[in-house]
Amino acid sequence: MQLRTCALLGKVACPLRAAILRCTQYSRKVRRVGRADARAQTPLQSLRDCLVTLQFLEKSLKVLFVCLGNICRSPTAEGVFRHYVKQAGLDGKVTIDSAGTADWHTGKAPDPRTIKAAARRGYDLSVLRARQAVAEDFHRFDLILAMDESNLANLKAIQPADGKAELALYLPRFGLEAREVPDPYYGGEEGFERVLDMLEQASDALLNEVRSSL
Ligand code: 4NP
Repeated sequence: MQLRTCALLGKVACPLRAAILRCTQYSRKVRRVGRADARAQTPLQSLRDCLVTLQFLEKSLKVLFVCLGNICRSPTAEGVFRHYVKQAGLDGKVTIDSAGTADWHTGKAPDPRTIKAAARRGYDLSVLRARQAVAEDFHRFDLILAMDESNLANLKAIQPADGKAELALYLPRFGLEAREVPDPYYGGEEGFERVLDMLEQASDALLNEVRSSL
């Protein structure tokens, strides 16, 4: 959190410094040649530029995908959506993460079957590591998307009253026909392919919403 705040302040400091510099230059020029002849950017314009930059920085979306173990569905949702966002040139404008409502696999890489199925479609999930969803996530994220009803219920159980995040079931939130992304953990390879099909469709819809909201 502190690191993010520092990074944000760093980004804000630049336009702010530039606006202050332009104000100083403008007032020096006014003193030298008089207001009518001072053609530099006015302090008001500099300030407006600065506010536009601040609004732009504010317009970022933070999305968290959640399943049970964070080794099959939600890391796939994360990896696929990261790919879509990057292809759209929007990385840096969207924060993406995933978590599980259970802590059984904390620190582990996604299931090998998940990694393999995703790799066949060009998504690299090997660097992801599982973590458990926590109440603080409701303060850190704007949108928390559960893969199924059971995980939605688990999330509601830890949702703080003052949490700012919108909590929803992923597929219905974006108008997809199915309500749940089925758990592929105890099934065969085709289950992982089905998860990918659903999450690619949902990523398309989520990306459209991100595009129109930024
Ligand atoms: P996920 O799948 O919730 O999509 O990550 C599962 C992963 C592990 C287990 C269950 C579901 N498990 O029982 O360990």
